[in-house]
Amino acid sequence: MRKKKTVYVCQKCGYRTPKWAGRCPECGEWGSLVEEVEKKEVKHRSSWVTSSATSPVPVTEIESSTENRERTGITEFDRVLGGGVVKGSVSLISGEPGIGKSTFLLQIASLFAEKGKVLYVTAEESPQQVALRANRLGALKENLLIYSENNLEEIAQQVERINPILAVYDSIQTLYLPYIESAAGSVSQVRECAAFITNLSKRRGITSFIVGHVTKEGTIAGPKVLEHIVDAVFQFEGDRGYNFRIFRSIKNRFGSTGELAVFEMTETGLKEVPNPSQFFLEERPKEKAGSVVFAGIEGSRPLLLEVQALVTRAVFTTPQRRAKGINANRLSIIVATVEKELGIPLRNFDVFVNVVGGVKVDEPAVDLPVAAAIVSSYFDRPIKPEFALFGEIGLTGEVRRVRLEELREKEARKNGFEVVKGIKHISEIPEKLLV
Ligand code: TYD
Ligand code: MG
Repeated sequence: MRKKKTVYVCQKCGYRTPKWAGRCPECGEWGSLVEEVEKKEVKHRSSWVTSSATSPVPVTEIESSTENRERTGITEFDRVLGGGVVKGSVSLISGEPGIGKSTFLLQIASLFAEKGKVLYVTAEESPQQVALRANRLGALKENLLIYSENNLEEIAQQVERINPILAVYDSIQTLYLPYIESAAGSVSQVRECAAFITNLSKRRGITSFIVGHVTKEGTIAGPKVLEHIVDAVFQFEGDRGYNFRIFRSIKNRFGSTGELAVFEMTETGLKEVPNPSQFFLEERPKEKAGSVVFAGIEGSRPLLLEVQALVTRAVFTTPQRRAKGINANRLSIIVATVEKELGIPLRNFDVFVNVVGGVKVDEPAVDLPVAAAIVSSYFDRPIKPEFALFGEIGLTGEVRRVRLEELREKEARKNGFEVVKGIKHISEIPEKLLV
């Protein structure tokens, strides 16, 4: 008998090598290489591919009717998708376990079920559990079919038979293709299953949502290897401590990335938050040192957020720098700049910075608010309460312009704040911004 050929696959990035190594040469992860049997399913796959093969067409003869979109009625969701769900598209919905993916997709499934048959594949939970949730969400619809199965070949048969307008696969980590000899959840299975679903969906024009878990540390056998297989990737973010969730587009063939919507968790499922700025500032302490309003942009949407800093005398010889919601390296640079340009001995102080609400900010415009919050906390003097701030800080402490300033200003004004103009250097913070 021929010996089975094995290959070592990195469970983090999908790198393949015939030889085992303690550390993945591609992504640098330790202990992530797992032995898998070299797949022989290529035959199967190519048969799937050829059955849907088309021939090249002149560009002038292609109808540019890509705008075959279905609005769900959840305005914020539709907006993040780029104006509704594109018919036949395959989207990955990723997020940590327990964040609300199943709940939200059941809500979406129920909305689609008003227009046609919807297949909800639950490979994780029993049909009873899903039905119980559907009852709680008010999602009991006759056209919503719940199917508890892990074998993707079986599922495909039902999909072909039912031909639903929407299919939900919950989750990709618990599905498997029997001809791939590694366990469900391994990189090979996850990738092949996603390719299989994509193929099936494209051939039949079935809109599909795939659920993918990610872990806190990053992705184990997860969405990273899927990103280029699917049309769009959306991510649920949020802190367990808060009762709202952020829905963000990471990749979108049919819309822009970085778009964000805010949902509030309720007994009856996720409800959209039409004015997130107001929502995030609701519990802001007034006239407290260390709290500042940041006028940010997420995707194309302006968003006011509260940035807090706490500066306290260092307990240990090495002062602590902790950042939540902003990049830790960025914080170190801001702290160093503030120390140098304002002559504040921050080396003797611990600095903690937090973006309230568990929102992750990834734009340099947050520099000035962070610096202002630090200075405010250090001097124990509040920022003038009417101010909303933005601005990038250079290494010499100069404040730079950022993108979409008018949009930020408009949002600030809409919510009763004014933006501060004419701050050229962070040394002006105490005089111009503090009470
Ligand atoms: P769930 O949808 O099961 O998370 P995931 O599929 O991402 O693992 O949600 C986790 C729990 O939170 C579940 O017990 C239901 C509850 N939940 C609500 O009660 N209301 C909500 O709006 C959401 C999103 C979740
Ligand atoms: Mg779930």
